[in-house]
Amino acid sequence: MDSRTEASITIDAPITREDPDTLRNIVKTGLLGNPRTLPSKLFYDERGSTLFEQICELPEYYQTRTEHKLLATWADEIIALSGAEELVELGSGAATKTRMLLDAMERADQLRYFVPFDVDESIVRRVSEELAQEYPGIQIHGVVGDFLVHLEHIPEGGKRLVVILGGTIGNLPTIPAEEFLTTVNAEMASEDFFLLGLQLITDPRRLEAAYNDQQGITAKFNKNILRVLRNQLGAQCDSDNFDHVARYNPDAHRIEMWLRSSQDQTINIPDLALSVAIKKNEEIRTELSTKYDRPLAENLLATSGFELVKWYTDRDQLIGLALARKP
Ligand code: SAH
Ligand code: AVI
Repeated sequence: MDSRTEASITIDAPITREDPDTLRNIVKTGLLGNPRTLPSKLFYDERGSTLFEQICELPEYYQTRTEHKLLATWADEIIALSGAEELVELGSGAATKTRMLLDAMERADQLRYFVPFDVDESIVRRVSEELAQEYPGIQIHGVVGDFLVHLEHIPEGGKRLVVILGGTIGNLPTIPAEEFLTTVNAEMASEDFFLLGLQLITDPRRLEAAYNDQQGITAKFNKNILRVLRNQLGAQCDSDNFDHVARYNPDAHRIEMWLRSSQDQTINIPDLALSVAIKKNEEIRTELSTKYDRPLAENLLATSGFELVKWYTDRDQLIGLALARKP
């Protein structure tokens, strides 16, 4: 066999070496807080990732197909401007849209290295296998980690384009999002580029419809967080005793997803010596999904040490793609 066409796969899983108390403390603090919260990364086990892939296909969830079209149109230019040979994707998920960038790198004969980085081990492994088949000669180094904690596990591979797509940055509150991007910036070399996909502020009815789909897939996704809580932390709680709620908060320009208790009940987590009494109609916030406009995006980037190189958006201004670098 011609060795130049062989792909190679390495998987590093720093999350499996993390102290279990870290997650326990986050969950405990969140459930006892006001409002009660759960960390959104807990949506994503194998079932959660599959449900998110189904969300991406929903008629109401316009975000994925809009970003897909933008990438299909601009990938060659983005790759030419960046000169990148290594693509690092934080929160890579199924990496479906990422193929636009990998294809453009291949066309430009720049494709050497891909680093899918995600908290869900099953999806990192699946995507690594798939892409090794699809791109002969590519080196894949998957990282199963929390991007808020494990960024130093990104390997050196060449001139990099670091990407965060899908609006995942909007799932972090404002200050943690700025701190996270500042850390991403610090991990990058001076000649590396950064591409950030953002969901833009639009008609609240359109936004709310995207998170309250007719088929109820988003509701299943929302409730999956309790299943992960049961599986990972031994929590005793019943998803059927909660209702899915998603509403737009105009002041913070974000969708908020909540689980509303349909009855008085108790969530027990024996490992945490935690027993949380929840009243009927009380809500637990499971996700923020912040929407931006161009000034907010430029401010986020500048605060994190980036300079905007080019801003791409669709005709209806639903999605923004910000190509940025270190000044
Ligand atoms: N980029 C893909 C997937 C977006 S879904 C797209 O645009 O369609 C968000 C992804 O981020 C999920 O795959 C989830 O597992 C991952 N994720 C969420 N929080 C994370 C964290 N703290 N660290 C690493 N990955 C995370
Ligand atoms: C991954 N993230 C950007 C999605 C979003 O739109 O905030 C997650 C999602 N939650 C419900 N639907 C989709």
